[in-house]
Amino acid sequence: MNRPSLNFSAGPAILPKSVLEEVKAELLDYQGTGMSVMEMSHRSAWFTQIIEESEARFRELLGISEEYAVLFVQGGATTQFSMVPLNLMHDSKQADFIDTGAWSVKAIAEANRYGKARVIASSKDQGFVEIPAVASSDIDPAADYLHITTNNTIFGTASHFEALEIPDSVPVVADMSSDILSRPIEVNRYGLIYAGAQKNMGPAGVTLIIIRKDLLGKAHPLCPLMLDYSTHAKKNSLHNTPPTFAIYLAGKVFKWLQELGGLQEIDRINTQKADLLYTFLDQSDLFYAKVQPPHRSRMNVTFGIREGELEKVFLAEAEQERLFFLKGHRSVGGMRASLYNALPLEAVHGLVAFMKEFERKA
Ligand SMILES: Cc1ncc(COP(=O)(O)O)c(C=O)c1O
Repeated sequence: MNRPSLNFSAGPAILPKSVLEEVKAELLDYQGTGMSVMEMSHRSAWFTQIIEESEARFRELLGISEEYAVLFVQGGATTQFSMVPLNLMHDSKQADFIDTGAWSVKAIAEANRYGKARVIASSKDQGFVEIPAVASSDIDPAADYLHITTNNTIFGTASHFEALEIPDSVPVVADMSSDILSRPIEVNRYGLIYAGAQKNMGPAGVTLIIIRKDLLGKAHPLCPLMLDYSTHAKKNSLHNTPPTFAIYLAGKVFKWLQELGGLQEIDRINTQKADLLYTFLDQSDLFYAKVQPPHRSRMNVTFGIREGELEKVFLAEAEQERLFFLKGHRSVGGMRASLYNALPLEAVHGLVAFMKEFERKA
C-alpha cells in the first residue's frame, strides 16, 4: 500500500474518503438490488429516489426555495456559457459582464455570438490577479442579466460582489463552479447559478443549475431543445438519460456535507485551511502568494517561488512526497494548491510542513 497522497487538484478534485468508501460498498449491489447504480434504468423507482434525494439535500444545504428550479444537466460549465445567453438574452439582447479571468473571457466570447456582451469592469490589464472595482451605476438597468464568476480557479481570486447593489430588473447569473457549497450564500440574490460538479460536489459529468422559475420558457426560438432550461425543468432533469452515477455520487457528497454541519461549518473549515497556507506564504522568504489579501480565493491558492529556477525542483520533490497537482494552470505557470471542501485541514498542514522543509534546505 502506498503512503497516502495529498490531492491539490483544481478539478476533477478530491472527494470525501468516506463517500468513496460508501460508494465502493454499494458498487456491485445497491441496497440489495443486486446491481450497481450504473446499471439501473433512470426511470426506475430506485433511481427516482436517488435523484429526488440528491436534489432535496442540495436544496437543504443552500436553502433554495420553491421559487427556483434545480436542474442536473450535462456538458460542463462550458456549455452554460452558451446556454445562459440562449435562454436569457431575450429582451435588450445585451448582458453586462464582470471580467475576472479566463473563464469569464470564455463566457463573454460565447454570449457575443447571441447578442452583446458588455464588459463593465475588467482586471485584464492587471493580469487578473485582482478583482476589478464595480459600481452599481456601471450596470445597465436594461441589461438582460449581469454575469459574474465568483471564484477564479486559474488566477486564485474570489469576489462575491455582495456589496454591489444591483437593479431589480437585472438578474444576476453566477458561475460558481469552483466555490459552490464552500460557504452559505443568499440564493435569492441570484437569477441563475451554475456549477460543474467536479470540484466541490462530485465527479465530472454533471452540472448543477439553480434557476429562478420566472426566467424559464424564454429561450431563443432556435435554441436546441437540450439547451433550453425549461426542457429539463419540465421533466425534473429526466428529459433524456441523465448522468445517473454522477448524480448518485453528488447526493452522497451533499449528505456528507449535511452531516458535517452544513455550509456554516465548511465555511469555518475552509477559512482555517486557507488562513494556514496564506499565513505561511506571507511570512516566507522563498515562497509568495500571487494575490493580495482582499482578492484571495480560499479554494485555489496561487503562489510562486522567488528563485524561479527552483519551481521544477519543488514540483518534482512534492510529487516524490506524494503531494499531487501543485502545478499552476498552464496559462499562468507557478503553483496552485486547491483546497476544496473535501480536502482535510491535515493535508494543508502537510503541505505547509513540506514547504517549510523545502525552504530550509534551499
Ligand atoms: C470557474 C470555472 N468556470 C467554468 C469552468 C469550465 O468547466 P467545465 O470544464 O465543467 O466545462 C471551470 C473549469 O475549471 C471553472 O473553474
